[in-house]
Amino acid sequence: MSKYLVTGGAGYVGSVVTAHLLEAGHEVTVLDDLSTGMREAVPEGADLIEGRLQDSARHLGPSFDGVLHFAAFSQVGESVTHPGKYWENNVGGTMALLAAMRSAGIRKLVFSSSAATYGEPVSVPITESAPTAPTSPYGASKLAVDHMISGECTAHGLAAASLRYFNVAGAYGDCGERHDPESHLIPLVLQVALGSREAISVFGDDYPTPDGTCVRDYIHVADLAEAHLLAMDAISSGEHLICNLGNGSGFSVREVVATVRRVTGHPVPEIAAARRAGDPAVLVASSEVARERLGWTPSRPDLAGIVADAWDFARARHAGG
Ligand code: UFG
Repeated sequence: MSKYLVTGGAGYVGSVVTAHLLEAGHEVTVLDDLSTGMREAVPEGADLIEGRLQDSARHLGPSFDGVLHFAAFSQVGESVTHPGKYWENNVGGTMALLAAMRSAGIRKLVFSSSAATYGEPVSVPITESAPTAPTSPYGASKLAVDHMISGECTAHGLAAASLRYFNVAGAYGDCGERHDPESHLIPLVLQVALGSREAISVFGDDYPTPDGTCVRDYIHVADLAEAHLLAMDAISSGEHLICNLGNGSGFSVREVVATVRRVTGHPVPEIAAARRAGDPAVLVASSEVARERLGWTPSRPDLAGIVADAWDFARARHAGG
């Protein structure tokens, strides 16, 4: 059993990883300023410190065996209009966290990075050696942190992994996606099925893809969570392991909408809308490194299953559960 600090454990992915750590018998303290996370999302059994990354030094002590770092702003569009917010929190906050870890002698870190570090892909599937040319301050902030972590590993012997997520979806029990405002495709389509939104806007149908809509690699949040526990065990001092996490298969926006229709039985009207700025046509991961280095195999690759879990969560929330 180990004791971990989970920053951002009141958010979507952080709460699911916290639930997995607790189930594996670990002790978890969540550090979250609740600016986007929600108190009720923190799984029972974890302690919550309501605080900012910038004050990490106050909360970190040598009793922690490692840190899993999720706390960050994550809206690509907002990062374009308010870049300073992203540098201050995602980059500045992580600098403070790394310094606090160094002072407290905590030598293990798993970081929530993103496929957004790559930007427009040169070829697909995307491998970790692909060029990193983020197209938004959000992606740039995640890449900057990846570089900071590499330096920390080299200079101070930190053991670290950056996990670059593709399109995270689905839910795990009481833990699911509840961004406000919501911008992600699957929860938005489910809002239509619930009757709280009239139609789904399809952003662009003239991309160079089979049906003209963007293709993404959807990964179940519980599969993603399992990779974090494996990464914590796989990392070694002085090495910065970087792994993509995806299923390796792509689904178009129209295929996602069709899957939601099948799973929910709702007709889900769609409206053709203009392209959203900054959306690459196709983002699909090569997760070979995660398979080889972590021994990770996603066990829930089926899109209908991912949507069904998200649907159960959305319905329970809608009913006030
Ligand atoms: N889309 C629509 N209509 C909507 C919402 C989304 O057509 O109402 C489309 C988008 O244009 C995109 C696809 O659905 O083509 C998926 O969009 P999401 O917003 O769900 O996800 P993204 O692929 O834009 O973003 C995800 C993560 C980011 C990460 C990015 C890079 O949410 O954090 O992948 O991999 F940076």
